[in-house]
Amino acid sequence: MTDPTQLLAGYRRDGFVVVPPVTPHEIWGPLTGELPSVLAEAGPQRFFEEDGTTVRAVYGLHRKDGPWRALAEASPLTALARQLIGEDMYVYQWKVNPKAARLGDRWQWHRDFDFWRAADGMRRPAAPTAAVFLDEVTEENGPLRLIPGTHTDRPATAEPPGGTGDEAGDWAWITSSRLAYALPETSTEELARTRGVYEATGPAGTVVLFHGNLVHSSAPNRSPHTRTLALISYNAVSNAPPAGHPGARPDCFVNHDAKPLPAIAA
Ligand code: SIN
Ligand code: MN
Repeated sequence: MTDPTQLLAGYRRDGFVVVPPVTPHEIWGPLTGELPSVLAEAGPQRFFEEDGTTVRAVYGLHRKDGPWRALAEASPLTALARQLIGEDMYVYQWKVNPKAARLGDRWQWHRDFDFWRAADGMRRPAAPTAAVFLDEVTEENGPLRLIPGTHTDRPATAEPPGGTGDEAGDWAWITSSRLAYALPETSTEELARTRGVYEATGPAGTVVLFHGNLVHSSAPNRSPHTRTLALISYNAVSNAPPAGHPGARPDCFVNHDAKPLPAIAA
């Protein structure tokens, strides 16, 4: 779906849209060549699976130039995200989840906004994420699973679990296979039954744009094929978390510079 009116209508109705690979390969393709060095870079931005050696997530890619910046800030994807947000926006969080062949673990059912509010003090879920497939995603390698329509449900009101400081271990609650704000299985089973579950599969280059309050998850990757997702979360400038939020995540996780991105022609 690429017609802007349809795209917006689908996003408002379901809380997500799947866009075939419209962003040219010249723009997202170079990321795959850069991945090995990004995954190898030690630091608090990098998280491992429970085996302690398989990389699960790398944050802070808003700090990188070249193809990272080109895709997030000046591509057809940027223009799509701007249409969904409908006002000035910036890149809030830019990460890669390289769900490794056979070793990549699940992501429990959750809403991203629960984490962003708790960690950074974000006020509204006005922050869609663009998930760009850097590999082909199939039913076997742990696709994103999305429950349509859940973006308009009331967000949970749990208290922050108290992540503080910038040491690597402190932030595992945002990214481990046991998430701090995982939704209870009983309620998600009921949601999945009544509203259905959409499994986002497709060739490399496919993009899923989903709302910050949408319930989503993914299963472990038991297949011989790695499933790498590039996940760029855009936020409205008017929704930038307030400076000085107690315990807010440092710049190696999220971008604190809410300067609006220049307009890109759709
Ligand atoms: C996420 O919820 O951040 C992504 C989950 C996944 O990589 O499957
Ligand atoms: Mn998520």
